[in-house]
Amino acid sequence: MGCWRYLTPTRAVAPREIRVPLDDVPRGGALVLPEYGLAVARGREGPIRALDLTCTHLGCRVTATENGFSCPCHGSRFDENGVVLSGPATRSLGGLDCAESGGMVTIRLPEAT
Ligand code: FES
Repeated sequence: MGCWRYLTPTRAVAPREIRVPLDDVPRGGALVLPEYGLAVARGREGPIRALDLTCTHLGCRVTATENGFSCPCHGSRFDENGVVLSGPATRSLGGLDCAESGGMVTIRLPEAT
């Protein structure tokens, strides 16, 4: 019985990638996945992209707005592509690998640290 304790994972293994239907991502908007700390954004034109919602200033979680994303901690604002509109953040939101195929979007999640 004592060995079983050491063979049982102490926590769930996080997925390495997730898939969402393309139709769930609004054109000119974003699908926010708070459980993964990311958003899948699709402009009116251009490629689909996945953004890490961690603010590049000091690491707070940004929230989606009508025109992009904003940080509740110190007020940084980012456009729908994650590019800084106003600081104090100076760097764009991080991008995640994503690909669209067969009506699905696959997002590769970063390795847990
Ligand atoms: S942590 Fe986002 S603006 Fe400071």
